[in-house]
Amino acid sequence: MITIPVLPESAPFNPTQRAWLNGFFAGILSLPAISGGDIPAPVTAPPAVEEDFPWHDPALPLEERLALAEGRPAGQVLMAAMAQLDCGSCGYLCQTYAEAISGGEEKDLAKCVPGGKETARKLKELVARPASGPALPVILPQPGPNGVHSNGTRLNGVHSHGAPTAPARPQPVPARVLEVKRLNGEGSDKDVRHVAFDLRGSGLRYEVGDALGVHAENCGELADAILRALAASGDEPVVLADGRRLLAREALLRECDLTRRVEPALAVMAGWSRGPAEAARLRALAEDDAEGFLDGLDLLDLLERFPAARGPVEELAAALAPLQPRLYSIASSLKAHAEQVHLTVGMVRYRREGCPRPRKGVASTFLGERACAGAAVRLFIQPSHGFRLPVDPAAPVIMVGPGTGIAPFRAFLQERQATGARGKNWLFFGDQRRATDYLYREELEAHQSAGLLSRLDLAFSRDQAEKVYVQHRMQENAAELWRWLETGAHFYVCGDAQRMARDVDRALHQVIAEQSGRGEAAAKAYVADLKRAKRYQRDVY
Ligand SMILES: Cc1cc2nc3c(=O)[nH]c(=O)nc-3n(C[C@H](O)[C@H](O)[C@H](O)COP(=O)(O)OP(=O)(O)OC[C@H]3O[C@@H](n4cnc5c(N)ncnc54)[C@H](O)[C@@H]3O)c2cc1C
Ligand SMILES: NC(=O)c1ccc[n+]([C@@H]2O[C@H](COP(=O)([O-])OP(=O)(O)OC[C@H]3O[C@@H](n4cnc5c(N)ncnc54)[C@H](OP(=O)(O)O)[C@@H]3O)[C@@H](O)[C@H]2O)c1
Repeated sequence: MITIPVLPESAPFNPTQRAWLNGFFAGILSLPAISGGDIPAPVTAPPAVEEDFPWHDPALPLEERLALAEGRPAGQVLMAAMAQLDCGSCGYLCQTYAEAISGGEEKDLAKCVPGGKETARKLKELVARPASGPALPVILPQPGPNGVHSNGTRLNGVHSHGAPTAPARPQPVPARVLEVKRLNGEGSDKDVRHVAFDLRGSGLRYEVGDALGVHAENCGELADAILRALAASGDEPVVLADGRRLLAREALLRECDLTRRVEPALAVMAGWSRGPAEAARLRALAEDDAEGFLDGLDLLDLLERFPAARGPVEELAAALAPLQPRLYSIASSLKAHAEQVHLTVGMVRYRREGCPRPRKGVASTFLGERACAGAAVRLFIQPSHGFRLPVDPAAPVIMVGPGTGIAPFRAFLQERQATGARGKNWLFFGDQRRATDYLYREELEAHQSAGLLSRLDLAFSRDQAEKVYVQHRMQENAAELWRWLETGAHFYVCGDAQRMARDVDRALHQVIAEQSGRGEAAAKAYVADLKRAKRYQRDVY
């Protein structure tokens, strides 16, 4: 009998690579002797599914992603319309959600939370488009030997025969808020809160790089204003689509999406409306909102704009879309804070033009304003799809995390300190002003003094006339950055997907092109190699 060796834990591979390689070697060694002394081709890394899906990049705008998927089977085009975060908010991965839609198992086209209305609208358009290409093939993810997707994600939501199943989001469990603290100084234009939860008794465990799923509650003032508009008390019994029974106010607070997805209300309100013109307009909007009338409108706006459409709150609440959880990058390590999880949450507050009522992001303001210390919040862990520290503790790490993008790097630094990892750490952090927006300043400076942070480069964009961003600091330190990459550094980016992550990616290419002296094409190949080796990871939103 052959003993099949497995790679030692210390081998310089991440868990996915190690699992894949172990499976590969097991396969080779359990084969009959290879004839003619053939030696298998060297294996450098597991095959990356992303390579086949060039649009699988959250920093690309929707139209660019769709252009890259042009001519591909319809299921892949649908995938390109997703936000490409594989964040799991919808209960699937981007690929499996697209498969579920193309296979007809999933009818809800508005589940991509980070893609928002833009993705929902595009999916609707693509699904309605007459099929011109070949029949819709189901794109089967390729599991590694241990059932792990080659991008590192377990195949939740996929039957063994390949058809996507109902969503498999982890069940939330309650945990108590320990502390909520504003991180910005007096006078800042920003409001970022440090939020800590007590995990004792929750059974929740995480690794640095994971995200925390938060089931938030809507703002009570908004729920009450909706009840007033409907002349309801809030004590009316409501039966939700899943059969649960609760009182109307509780349903509006905890279960119903009141702000992002108002479309389900249109048909109910059309049925109520006593004005034929108003009813026709509501029906037309329910059918199609090509001019974007509904963009940015919440349920209260809708009720105010259609005052003749009034009816029982229980009917409306039962029809509304379920309130989706939001994800936050975990900002702590269990090795430094046993039984706790920390977040760095930017408050979303804004005004709609021409409307005096202030708007609030549901989950950010829930965490920052409404969930006081001691409150129980329903949480779950969303495991990362590869945003992990290097397995080799001696590997250098470069982290680019402006604004709330600092969150996972605070966790990485805590982990590297707690495990005594010898590898060097370099952080690029930026925000608006040093005096008020230097998040976690004391901790970062302490890490620098202790030598945990070998380098800390800061970019405060509004402290001078010209904007200075993290990518400018990368360019100023191009030679050093190149040296780190050449000695095996892992490069991480977290924060804003639309602008920052794109510009940092461009800067990385420029640094490599110039410093290697081999130009743009070689830089592109170098970055592709970094990605293949899982040495370039992004957690952007
Ligand atoms: C993997 C992942 C990790 C994340 N990590 C973090 C993190 O560490 N920290 C963090 O703060 N966030 C993080 N986010 C973002 C977070 O999940 C939420 O999207 C964010 O907090 C907003 O949620 P909300 O419920 O407060 O706002 P929502 O109620 O969802 O409202 C947000 C919506 O409001 C609208 N809006 C916002 N601003 C304006 C404006 N100025 N004008 C008009 N409309 C506007 C937009 O339509 C936007 O989509 C992460 C997201 C993902 C996917
Ligand atoms: N998808 C969602 O629901 C959601 C929710 C919350 C936040 N976000 C995104 O996440 C981002 C993070 O928000 P945040 O408040 O933590 O930080 P942020 O707005 O990204 O700001 C952090 C720093 O980055 C700078 N910056 C702006 N544009 C940049 C660019 N192109 N390249 C590099 N740096 C740039 C900012 O400078 P200036 O401001 O001076 O230009 C600021 O100094 C938001 O901008 C938003 O786009 C998304």
